[in-house]
Amino acid sequence: MELSTSYMGLALRNPLVASASPLSRTADGVRRLADAGVGAVVLYSLFEEQLRRQAAQDARLADAGTESFAESLSYFPSVAEQEGGPRPYLSLLERAAAAVDVPVIASLNGVTPGGWVDYARAMQDAGAAAIELNIYYLPGDAHISGRDVEQRHIDVLARVKDAVTVPVAVKLSPYFSSTGEVAVRLDEAGADALVLFNRFLQPDIDPEALAVVSGVGLSNAAEARLPRTWIALLRGRVRASLAATTGVEEPADVARYLLAGADVVMTASALLRHGPEHAAVLLDGLSGWMARKGFAAVDQVRGMLSVPLGTDEAEHERAGYVGAMREANSSAYGPW
Ligand SMILES: Cc1cc2nc3c(=O)[nH]c(=O)nc-3n(C[C@H](O)[C@H](O)[C@H](O)COP(=O)(O)O)c2cc1C
Repeated sequence: MELSTSYMGLALRNPLVASASPLSRTADGVRRLADAGVGAVVLYSLFEEQLRRQAAQDARLADAGTESFAESLSYFPSVAEQEGGPRPYLSLLERAAAAVDVPVIASLNGVTPGGWVDYARAMQDAGAAAIELNIYYLPGDAHISGRDVEQRHIDVLARVKDAVTVPVAVKLSPYFSSTGEVAVRLDEAGADALVLFNRFLQPDIDPEALAVVSGVGLSNAAEARLPRTWIALLRGRVRASLAATTGVEEPADVARYLLAGADVVMTASALLRHGPEHAAVLLDGLSGWMARKGFAAVDQVRGMLSVPLGTDEAEHERAGYVGAMREANSSAYGPW
């Protein structure tokens, strides 16, 4: 079975990618993912906030040095060695890239086009095959316009593209008035891939404790319908590669995303739930399904059920909605 594929110019042995998660917090974790067969690994994210904090600390240390004595910097325990800081991240990246023979993609998570994005260059130098830029932005300020939010995405991407020569993927949210137009603008601004979609980890309210609680919940397969709809709509309409993320639990979910038009299919929750070795189950299942259906290569599968070019996309979506409602009304919920 020919599973090899290309993702934003990177040659992958198959289209299954381990998306950013705590499983890639150690070089050993990355090795386990590669041993289980994934085509590439995205490291967990380094946050803009961490980079800003590091830069502020470095500046303070530098000031202390010039005020007292020149070699003082070498006496300070390096804040860089703190858990979770940028330098340990680069060290992990270097070790992980050397330990596995699949591309290791570094992840930067932020929302403002500041100097921190130049860190992408250090990631490239440490061995990142590509950068995944996670623009995780919740515009809580009710005065920020939609256009400003969109422009922020373009500006951050432009800064990162300027800083590196490796491909840059943008992981974005589905919450735009016109998600398709944002995807096209990012494509035109040079995104090498679009990762659909960010899964927001919103806080909840515990009515017993009368408290706001945070928490990271794992996804379920039904959540894949929204990204799948957008992948089917964007297939053939953008130059950027399309990566699907959310709700891949079993091999059929990988097949669904490929049929919709994904270049690669990412998974995190299922690997956290069942262990990294679940990647082998997904890949074996994909090969089995392809053999049963008479496919010899993923290229034959990809986009088979995407929205055909030349379709009126809005009408297509509306027709799907109306059809579904008619079906629902004529069955369990009475006539339309
Ligand atoms: C525990 C956990 C940690 C995650 N950490 C990151 C992260 O650091 N950066 C990132 O871009 N996405 C992160 N994600 C999101 C995943 O990469 C993925 O996009 C999302 O969980 C949807 O895919 P899934 O349904 O396969 O889990 C995390 C998800 C989980 C569950």
